[in-house]
Amino acid sequence: MSFLSTTTTHNSIISKVLFLYKCYAKTMMILGIETSCDETAAAVVEDGKRLLSNVVASSMDLHAKYGGVIPEIAARSHIESIIPVIEQALYVAKCDWDDIDGIAVTYGAGLGGSLLVGVMTARSLAITKNKPLYAINHVEGHLYANFITETTLSGYSLPQRQPQFPFLGLIVSGGHSQLVLFRDHFDYTLLGQTQDDAIGEAFDKVAKLLGLPYPGGPSVSKLAAKGDPFKYDLPKAKLADKYNFSFSGPKTAVLRLAQAECGKGHDFPSNQLSALLHEAQKADIAASFQRVAIETVVDKTILAYEEFQPKSVIIGGGVASSPELRQQLSARLPLPVEYTDPKLCTDNGAMIAALGCIKAQFDQPTADPYLLEISPSLSM
Ligand code: KG4
Ligand code: ZN
Repeated sequence: MSFLSTTTTHNSIISKVLFLYKCYAKTMMILGIETSCDETAAAVVEDGKRLLSNVVASSMDLHAKYGGVIPEIAARSHIESIIPVIEQALYVAKCDWDDIDGIAVTYGAGLGGSLLVGVMTARSLAITKNKPLYAINHVEGHLYANFITETTLSGYSLPQRQPQFPFLGLIVSGGHSQLVLFRDHFDYTLLGQTQDDAIGEAFDKVAKLLGLPYPGGPSVSKLAAKGDPFKYDLPKAKLADKYNFSFSGPKTAVLRLAQAECGKGHDFPSNQLSALLHEAQKADIAASFQRVAIETVVDKTILAYEEFQPKSVIIGGGVASSPELRQQLSARLPLPVEYTDPKLCTDNGAMIAALGCIKAQFDQPTADPYLLEISPSLSM
C-alpha cells in the first residue's frame, strides 16, 4: 500500500469515527444545497432546528421579462452562483469544512438542468471533502422548513416549537400542491394532490392575465388587498377523490370573467385583457381568485384535520407565505398553527439542510456520491 493510500484510509477512518461520535451525541451540522428551479441556495443547519446561515441567489430578475422561468437561463445562473453561494453560507455560519458533518442536496423534483448543477456540485464536494451525502426530495424539504425553531441570524420569525407527530402537511408552491399525513419522520401517506396546475402556478397565470409582474403570487396578493374578495363568484372544482385539488377551472373562470368584463368573446387574446380592465376590476378579480384558490386548499385541510385529528398542521412552499392562507387556516382550525418566516417558505437551502440533519440523526441511508442521479419528476 502506498503512503498516499495509507494516509487516505487513515483520514477516512478518522472522519467516520468523528461522524459516528456526532451521530451518538446527536448534534449534526449539515450544509444544504438547493437548485431545483430559479433559486441557487445554500444553508447550514445544526441539529435539524438551528439555522446558522441561509443564502439565496435568485435569477428571478432574468426571468421576469418572459413572465416565467426559462430553464436554460436558470441552469446557467446556477453554474455562475453555486460556489460563491456555498462559500457565503459557510462564512455566515462561521464554520469551515471540518465542522460540516454532511451535505444534503435536492435531487428532485425540479428542472433537469437546474437540479444537475446542485447535484453534481454536492457529489463533487462529498467526494473531495469526504462527507456523507443525503439526497433530498424538494417537496418533503418544504415541510421541514417548519422544524427550524432557532437561529443566530437576525430578521427571522420562527415557530416556537417543532411540529408534533402525527402532523398534517400542506405543500403549496409553484410546482406542487399536496396534502400529506406524517405519522413520523419518513413515514407518511399522500392524501391528495393537484390534478392539473399547482396553486402557485395558477396565481402566476392569473397575475400574467392581469398584467402584474412575475412572480405572480405576491403581486396578486398585494393587489387583492385593495379588492372585494366576494365581488365575483368563481367556481371551486368538485373532484371524485375528496383530498385532490384542481386549479385549472378557477384559472379559466378568471379568463372568461375578464373577457366578459371587457365585453369580449372567448376568442379574445388573454394578453390584451389587462390593458382594457380598470384598476378596481383587476383588484376585485385578484381578491376573488385569491379567496377561492386559498379556500380550495383550506377546505381540504380542514376535512383531513377532522378525519385524522393530527397534533400539528404545517404548511410549506412559496404560497405558504400568503397572508390570506395563514388567516383562513388560523380562523378555521381548532388548534393554534405556527407559521415559519416567508424566507423559509420559498425555495431555500435551509429546508434541505434541516431534512438532511434529521436523515443523519436517524441513520437514514446516504447517497453514493459517485452515482446519485437527478429525478426531475420525483413524487412524494
Ligand atoms: O416554493 P417556491 O419558491 O417554488 C416552487 O417550489 O415552486 O414557490 C413559488 C411560488 C410562485 O408560484 C409564487 O407566485 C408563489 O409561490 N407565491 C405566492 C405568494 N408568495 C409566493 N402565492 C400566493 N401568495 C403569495 N403571497
Ligand atoms: Zn419549492
